[in-house]
Amino acid sequence: MSNKKILILPGDGIGNEVMSEVLKIINWMEKTKSISFDISERLVGGTAYDKEGDSISDETMQVALDVDAVLFGAVGGSRWDNVEREKRPEAALLRLRKDLDLFANLRPAVVLDALAEASSLKTHLVKGLDILIVRELTSGVYFGQPRGISKISETESKAIDTQVYSTSEIKRVSKVAFDLAKLRSNKVSSAEKSNVMETGLLWRNVVTDLHEKEYTSVDLEHILADNCAMQLVRNPKQFDVILTDNLFGDLLSDTAAMLTGSLGMLPSASLGPVKENGTRAAMYEPVHGSAPDIAGQSKANPLAMILSFAMMLKYSFNMQEDSQLVEKAVQNVLLKGLRTADIADSANKIISTKEMGDAVIEELKILSGN
Ligand code: IPM
Ligand code: MG
Repeated sequence: MSNKKILILPGDGIGNEVMSEVLKIINWMEKTKSISFDISERLVGGTAYDKEGDSISDETMQVALDVDAVLFGAVGGSRWDNVEREKRPEAALLRLRKDLDLFANLRPAVVLDALAEASSLKTHLVKGLDILIVRELTSGVYFGQPRGISKISETESKAIDTQVYSTSEIKRVSKVAFDLAKLRSNKVSSAEKSNVMETGLLWRNVVTDLHEKEYTSVDLEHILADNCAMQLVRNPKQFDVILTDNLFGDLLSDTAAMLTGSLGMLPSASLGPVKENGTRAAMYEPVHGSAPDIAGQSKANPLAMILSFAMMLKYSFNMQEDSQLVEKAVQNVLLKGLRTADIADSANKIISTKEMGDAVIEELKILSGN
């Protein structure tokens, strides 16, 4: 079987540090498990802008299109605040999403027992929480045309963003949500604003129709997006899979992330359509950003990046066992009380990014007897 081709894009800020820990795990897997990965690494974000004049070069985009999966760190920082929009660090992320057609963004929000106390909500509300947000990622107001700011008089300007969705765009992401729900607790909550938005109404109708035709065995509820935000902090365990559009997904996934107490713990996957040969483009990235304030100090939590790698093993390479092994190693490290600063309380000894990566490898060795 051919090697698994991965493109590594560490990006800016803490991106490099957290990615280094994943590379250690990859090395360990290659040595002990006779799995081999074919890895290329390139610049992205502000770092790429500084060195290559754009936040993602055409060559890098070409490599991204060619590999089996992209592993993405984080981009952005105030240093690039004044760069024109098309070249800003975030533009690289949007281009990757669009050009790879990564329409289905999977954002799990899971509260591990060891961290239930870290949430800002009462422990009983979040203990055992396991939600999956499925966010549409390549359409909606992020990409709709027309958009722009135009001057309409000496003193007035007008800004336009366009929220647009088509039947097929809604349908394909809804299928992903229903299929995943079947493997979980079998419930989909579809969030939109059909009470005020045309796209919300179409969204609701398409989801209803698809449900009736193909997924009657899955429980479906429609929920207005504002109510969904409220319910997420009132009683989050009522949810299993939340299906929603690009903009609402951006907001709801940050809310869900914070329920877990640490953004530094959450991975994500962005998947393209399944091609004829059964493969699909995919990108995996932690939900946290580049955290420039702590960059270069070995303080960042590498676990979200490591768990993103675990998602890659599962969704891109069908390596369920190895994926679970990495997840289990992370859980065990936490059960032993090891914490980076973001998830520590006064009882914990705080360890560095590197020490956390090493601790995960130690656990991997113990779990696999290697
Ligand atoms: C996210 C981020 C991005 C988004 C930004 C960095 C463009 O907030 O992935 O949630 O808005 O989608
Ligand atoms: Mg966001």
